[in-house]
Amino acid sequence: MTFDTIIRGGTVATAADTFACDIGIVDGRIAALGTSLGAARETVDAAGRLVLPGGIDSHVHLAQPSGPGIVMADDFESGTRAAAFGGNTLVLPFAMQQKGESLREVVKAYHAKAEGQCYVDVSFHLIIADATDRVLGQELPALVADGYTSFKVFMTYEGLALSDLEMLEVMSVARETGALVMIHAENYDAIRFLTDRLERAGKTAPRYHAASRPIPVEREATHRAISLAELTDVPIMIVHVSNGEAMEEIRRAQQKGLRVYGETCPQYLVLTEKDLAGLNMEGARYVCSPPPRDEASQRACWAGLEQKVFALFSSDHCPFRYDDPQGKLTPKGRTSFRWVPNGIPGVETRLPILFSEGVKKGRISLNDFVALTATNHARMYGLYPRKGTIAVGADADLAIWDPERQVTISQRLLHHGSDYTPYEGLAVTGWPVSTMVRGRFVVRDGELVGTKGSGAYVPRAKSPYAVPRPS
Ligand code: URP
Ligand code: ZN
Ligand code: ZN
Repeated sequence: MTFDTIIRGGTVATAADTFACDIGIVDGRIAALGTSLGAARETVDAAGRLVLPGGIDSHVHLAQPSGPGIVMADDFESGTRAAAFGGNTLVLPFAMQQKGESLREVVKAYHAKAEGQCYVDVSFHLIIADATDRVLGQELPALVADGYTSFKVFMTYEGLALSDLEMLEVMSVARETGALVMIHAENYDAIRFLTDRLERAGKTAPRYHAASRPIPVEREATHRAISLAELTDVPIMIVHVSNGEAMEEIRRAQQKGLRVYGETCPQYLVLTEKDLAGLNMEGARYVCSPPPRDEASQRACWAGLEQKVFALFSSDHCPFRYDDPQGKLTPKGRTSFRWVPNGIPGVETRLPILFSEGVKKGRISLNDFVALTATNHARMYGLYPRKGTIAVGADADLAIWDPERQVTISQRLLHHGSDYTPYEGLAVTGWPVSTMVRGRFVVRDGELVGTKGSGAYVPRAKSPYAVPRPS
């Protein structure tokens, strides 16, 4: 057999094993693993490199409406380009419904935004903001059947927060349809109460964003979300967990046999609320929700990864520019933290941060790194085994890493649309140098070689983790 490409001489790692072998690729798929594979139109020398499944980032926000006068810094073009430079081959952004909108129309609109723009593959989660009878009874079940098999609900944010009753209704549709519910767990009323109190006391600087949503706000909502899921017997994914108390709620649920899964993100491993305390509005660069906490919370998030309480490590890439009237610095000309758009960029730095801080520092194995950044995402969201692993028959979605490259993360190295990185100055060891999607390089030796539009939309199967149990 003549292969299109052979990747030769690398060390291959999957979620289960690490081994030396060559990878033969035909028509965008892995056709053979072994040595002495034979002839190929192109041979790629991977000696001294790691060859890993391309990263799957199952929590990114691209081209999402973000409130009056605020514009997200990445569209599908820039966001997926940055993802490719960061070693990712597939991202899962959200198709976000706003009040009054038809969910089906929202999905069409996001497809139009993505069509012809992407450098890596994409699939969509839904965000349910308006749980009307039509959405629950017709649109949502039809969309799940069409491959939109996961959706996010919010327990906070003006215009997005669902009541407990609405959460229960959405969860029971998820149970009937076999969809997976992702939950942003923060107590909306508590945040409003604390924000008003802080503002009345003149505490409006970005650092007070953290004080407006302290750990009990997240812990309580996490507990409540788990209780609602228990009542409806539906599996849930608690996204962007920031601290040990919320993590322990998830662990307790898991120990009880509930199908409760967790996700954490780089900001909860390497940032703290002290980063929010820069001069003037500097701290706005770090405003995200939940906020980064303290060193004890960082340790707890590491424990959650090491002990597999968290199945997923995602970026929650939600990029805004800092020094821009449409961004974080002076939103609407007002200075209270209340008006700073929530979210930080991270799709390009997620993998190097976990590789360096996790694998290189001996906290997690290379195989767990692959699981947390690729394989578990594919399994959780109905993409496995086509995506998320290196196996015969899988798409040739690969990242070639230089495991020894030392990089100091800096905005000038990155490709996202934000004008800053929250990880400026962080020294990491290990960097993805080439990224291949379905057998074609998008980034090769640090250069963009892929074409816009080569990334495809990938419909998904139902999550095997969300199969309804017999009632
Ligand atoms: O601050 C954050 N995380 N913004 C992104 C939206 C979300 O809640 O995931
Ligand atoms: Zn969220
Ligand atoms: Zn998010």
